[in-house]
Amino acid sequence: KSEYAEKLCNVRGLIIYKDFAKNWDNVEAFQARPDDLLIATYPKSGTTWVSEIVDLIYKEGNVEKCKEDVIFNRIPFLECKNEEHFDGIKQLENMASPRIVKTHLPPEYLPVSFWEKNCKMIYLCRNVKDVAVSYYYFHLMVPAHPNPGTFPEFVEKFMNGEVPYGSWYKHVKSWWEKSKSPNILFLFYEDMHEDIRKEVIKVIHFLGREPSEELVETIVNHTSFQEMKNNPTTNYTAIPDEFMNQKVSPFMRKGIVGDWKNHFTVALNERFDMHYEQEMKGSTLKLQTKI
Ligand code: PPS
Repeated sequence: KSEYAEKLCNVRGLIIYKDFAKNWDNVEAFQARPDDLLIATYPKSGTTWVSEIVDLIYKEGNVEKCKEDVIFNRIPFLECKNEEHFDGIKQLENMASPRIVKTHLPPEYLPVSFWEKNCKMIYLCRNVKDVAVSYYYFHLMVPAHPNPGTFPEFVEKFMNGEVPYGSWYKHVKSWWEKSKSPNILFLFYEDMHEDIRKEVIKVIHFLGREPSEELVETIVNHTSFQEMKNNPTTNYTAIPDEFMNQKVSPFMRKGIVGDWKNHFTVALNERFDMHYEQEMKGSTLKLQTKI
């Protein structure tokens, strides 16, 4: 059996970690509550960043309260399951409302109760090339993944959707279509880099709250890359090496826009751009992927 087949499997058309797949009936049956807020992303798009922002809004700018627990307890990862170590659903069931829920699921695979209950959702999208780079390092540091091989080898798999959560292109296109609903806020990682104040204010308004100067200032300072990298409740260092080996590559790796330029050769980039055009043809979602 290949390492690929040992670690990943296909659940109703979605490639996912074996351990998560074993729990799929529970994922599908999950009961959302009307006041749940869902944070959805394709992996490595800045989930942790937007999660910390939202939690700080919920906690009215109280940084100390956020620091009382690690981010993966404050914002449970819905479909995450690993024997006795991680169980997103159990965490959520035991949690008081209002809950903030993290997921990487495409909309078609989201438990239907989120749609039935009309929950608010935030989707964060990032330049696909930077996602591919970040996902490559994540494959190296998290042993739940098969060995990604060289970067060009990994990019082939990524383009074909042969990675956990499948095709990036399908994921963003589907969520983009869904985001026509006023309940869904669609954000871009690059916009957050360009003007974090503006994006934070957008999120505060979306959550029906008032963006006081003090709150915005606190959030901007507390959620900078450097702050989050040094903060043990946001940098994932609380996870044992056997699940996430940060000696190989830190979770808070670089946090920049355009690191792909250090990884794509000219030839690989041309191939990738051509494939991108094909995959995104017909979608009204326009992303700047060349800077
Ligand atoms: S995960 O595992 O899918 O939930 O990871 P996710 O949080 O979505 O993505 C991790 C990448 O986001 C970067 N990151 C940040 N960038 C800027 N500012 C802040 N505060 C921030 N927090 C996390 C993180 O560094 C990963 O990107 P790369 O490119 O690998 O550095």
